[in-house]
Amino acid sequence: MSKEWIVGATGASGAIYAKRFLELSSELDVRVHLIASEPALRVFAYELGAPANGASDDPRSWLDLGDEARSRIRLYAPTDLAAGPASGTFGADAMAIVPCSMKTLSAVANGYADNLIARAADVMIKERRPLVLVPRETPYSAIHLENMLKLARLGVSIVDANPPFYQGAQTIADLVDAVVHKVFVQLGLKHPNAFRWEG
Ligand SMILES: Cc1cc2nc3c(=O)[nH]c(=O)nc-3n(C[C@H](O)[C@H](O)[C@H](O)COP(=O)(O)O)c2cc1C
Repeated sequence: MSKEWIVGATGASGAIYAKRFLELSSELDVRVHLIASEPALRVFAYELGAPANGASDDPRSWLDLGDEARSRIRLYAPTDLAAGPASGTFGADAMAIVPCSMKTLSAVANGYADNLIARAADVMIKERRPLVLVPRETPYSAIHLENMLKLARLGVSIVDANPPFYQGAQTIADLVDAVVHKVFVQLGLKHPNAFRWEG
């Protein structure tokens, strides 16, 4: 049976992680519910250039996917606190925030649910469902680290945007995909192209 994932994209550097996450998840048996913050759209434009497939207020415009795959990603406004993902009854299987800004990390760590990304994450925690954050900042301050520790102790997976260099990556895209594959595992699915260490 197909899974339902909520995906939040925020305004941390690393738009390429969100892009590849969404493109690769289209190869899995997953239905994606996407929420992108307004800063995320700004960083998308800054880091990925003008969208090739639509308007700059729709994060799906940056995806190298066919129309059918793109339209299967359901988009929500971050301000829509009455949308399905705001409720525990929505019952999504898992949620990822990729990339996750320090601002959204703080909101999630402190239950400050003032937009749909933070509210949906708050719901995943209270419902004890898988939640994965892909934070990106450097250096991390003690505030950032304390927020991550607090969430890790609650069972949230912290997969920071920190690629592995032992898997034979040849390109930046390979490094990005390796991180995305790690996020998929935390969400409960393995991508068929994920690296496997054989010793
Ligand atoms: C080009 C650019 C890069 C940024 N990179 C980061 C980053 O790596 N990490 C971070 O926490 N914030 C970063 N920010 C700042 C966030 O966008 C800002 O804190 C914003 O309020 C986050 O809001 P959101 O979490 O609702 O998307 C960046 C901003 C810009 C314009």
